[in-house]
Amino acid sequence: MEIVIGKSAGFCFGVANAVNKTNDLLNTSEKSYCLGELVHNNQVTDELQKKGLVIIDNVEQAKNNIIIRSHGVKKQIYKKAEKLRLHVTDLTCPKVIKIHNIATEYSNNGYYIFLIGQKDHPETIATISYCGKNATIIEKQEDINKGLEKFYNSNIKKLLILSQTTYSLEKFDSIVSFIKEIIQENAELEVKNTICDATRLRQEETKKIASKVDMMIIIGGKHSSNTNKLYNISTKYCKNCILIETKDELSLDYIKQFEKIGIMAGASTPQKSIET
Ligand code: F3S
Repeated sequence: MEIVIGKSAGFCFGVANAVNKTNDLLNTSEKSYCLGELVHNNQVTDELQKKGLVIIDNVEQAKNNIIIRSHGVKKQIYKKAEKLRLHVTDLTCPKVIKIHNIATEYSNNGYYIFLIGQKDHPETIATISYCGKNATIIEKQEDINKGLEKFYNSNIKKLLILSQTTYSLEKFDSIVSFIKEIIQENAELEVKNTICDATRLRQEETKKIASKVDMMIIIGGKHSSNTNKLYNISTKYCKNCILIETKDELSLDYIKQFEKIGIMAGASTPQKSIET
């Protein structure tokens, strides 16, 4: 049996930075408070919780300190944290901060913004707060017409398209092409593909490996956006794909029947889960 492991599998630099800095904090303080899960991976979360990380749902639950995770948070959260005199450790990924800055700049310059991403994903919820009131989240093709209607009704003539960092490259391209085809001629369109390099690399490598193997194993959190995208990509190129969080979900009898197996892991999957 041949096993091909993706070179880009595992933690991206944004997640690695967040996990390392949180570990450093936990070595020096008894408890640190994180707004939502630090990363979308149960094994990493469990380990950090054992060391004293407390996951909270709202800022008011924090005591003395708060960690902002790599997905970022709504801009109002910073004000709340300041009011509550919390010490803020901001671990928002620089790639996400870059999108917040672009959104702020274009919104201030009078653009309407389409943010392509999952409506319920924490990164999208955070980014939309930087887009001003003239903005719409486009998750699927069906959202485009409604979004364009709102854009035309706003009487704004300039439209910016942005993306969540972990969105599917293929879906982003197809949504943008569709908008370009149907948008009114007098509208000025600017497109910024803000899917991050870590996502791009992992998606491209998954496609390459999945087209060459008999079976694909994707390792990562089942609630992780980027891991799910890798699984969806694999299913397009390989007939036998599974998504697992740990090796305990693997049946050796099942995988023994395949000659060539590919392995990929999401950007929030620790090396430990891949190696074991
Ligand atoms: Fe940052 Fe992209 Fe990772 S936005 S946290 S480098 S998946």
